[in-house]
Amino acid sequence: EELEKGGYEHFMLKEIHQQPQTLADCMRGRLSLEAPYVKLGGVDEYEKTISNAKRFIIAACGTSWHAGLIGEYLFEDLARIPVEVEYASELRYRNPIIQEGDVVIALSQSGETADTLAALELAKDKGAMLYGVVNAVGSSIARLTDAGSYIHAGPEIGVASTKAFTGQVALLTMMAISLGYKRGRIPNSYFHKLISELHNIPAKIERALRCEEQIKYIAKEIKDRQNALYLGRGFNFPVALEGALKLKEISYIHAEGYPAAEMKHGPIALIDEEMPVIVIATNRSAYDKVVSNIQEVKARKGMVIAVVTEGEKTISEMADYTIEIPDTEEPLTPLLSVIPLQLLSYHIAVMRGCNVDQPRNLAKSVTVE
Ligand code: G6P
Repeated sequence: EELEKGGYEHFMLKEIHQQPQTLADCMRGRLSLEAPYVKLGGVDEYEKTISNAKRFIIAACGTSWHAGLIGEYLFEDLARIPVEVEYASELRYRNPIIQEGDVVIALSQSGETADTLAALELAKDKGAMLYGVVNAVGSSIARLTDAGSYIHAGPEIGVASTKAFTGQVALLTMMAISLGYKRGRIPNSYFHKLISELHNIPAKIERALRCEEQIKYIAKEIKDRQNALYLGRGFNFPVALEGALKLKEISYIHAEGYPAAEMKHGPIALIDEEMPVIVIATNRSAYDKVVSNIQEVKARKGMVIAVVTEGEKTISEMADYTIEIPDTEEPLTPLLSVIPLQLLSYHIAVMRGCNVDQPRNLAKSVTVE
């Protein structure tokens, strides 16, 4: 086992650090700077069905569901395709409206999650086409779906998902860009910018990982707190949810993720000097709004840890701690902003003496209801 950890103390840490490589693997052979630019295999005769889909329904659980939420922002923004993101466990017991012409995308690291499988069977009965975005090769979901793409993250051992999450987001990004291009929804110059920026993502993740020493310092400040709040907007709202999930899963600190603007409808009541608030403040379009959210937290003496774009000044002056990540095109920011949040939860859990790779009560793959 020590050998498999490759010199890292835990699988989770190894998997966090593997991300530059796993994302390069996920994009290899699928993305190029020349036509056809994006080529996802495994689609075959379903290419038309996917290109002409009236609607996507994304079904998933846990961290994969958070990747699905980012998918919703991506497909709607870049390809102008309506998307619904569903907890597979809810979808399967509702009487959902699923019709021919709908494409159901299942996101699953393991490919074995019982609720996701059951939701797919239901969608199949209703005539939808099934597309799997899966890590585990040959798994049940990979076999049940009509077409699909593996994310090529390699085995993920840590129960808390990290590299599978970024792999799923990268895959959905490639799909959204490609569909947007085919449907004429993305201006040519922007399309090319996104393609070349995706190529830069592995190196930028490498750079984002350099915040680790600083993260350890911040982790020391937070490790004895009872609660934490994560805020983000737009593409980074699901990242806030994912940051909170990572923290509660492995450190057992209660954490909530919220769209930053919703803070005033509830969580703001909880803010005092005991409450660390982790804010993802990289979004360009909602930047000013996030700045005012930070002011609201500071006015109530909350501790602000802000994830910002390199070189940012305004927020650095207001926040207690700022963590810098490289700049990128806005739809790609989740691939970078999640990195410090993964590291933060990891180091807090280690400092609290938790069993990081096998947290209590959780399973890597939930094959029962
Ligand atoms: C479990 C795991 C999570 C995972 C979720 C969905 O809860 O602990 O890390 O996100 O299942 O799993 P899947 O394999 O379908 O992505």
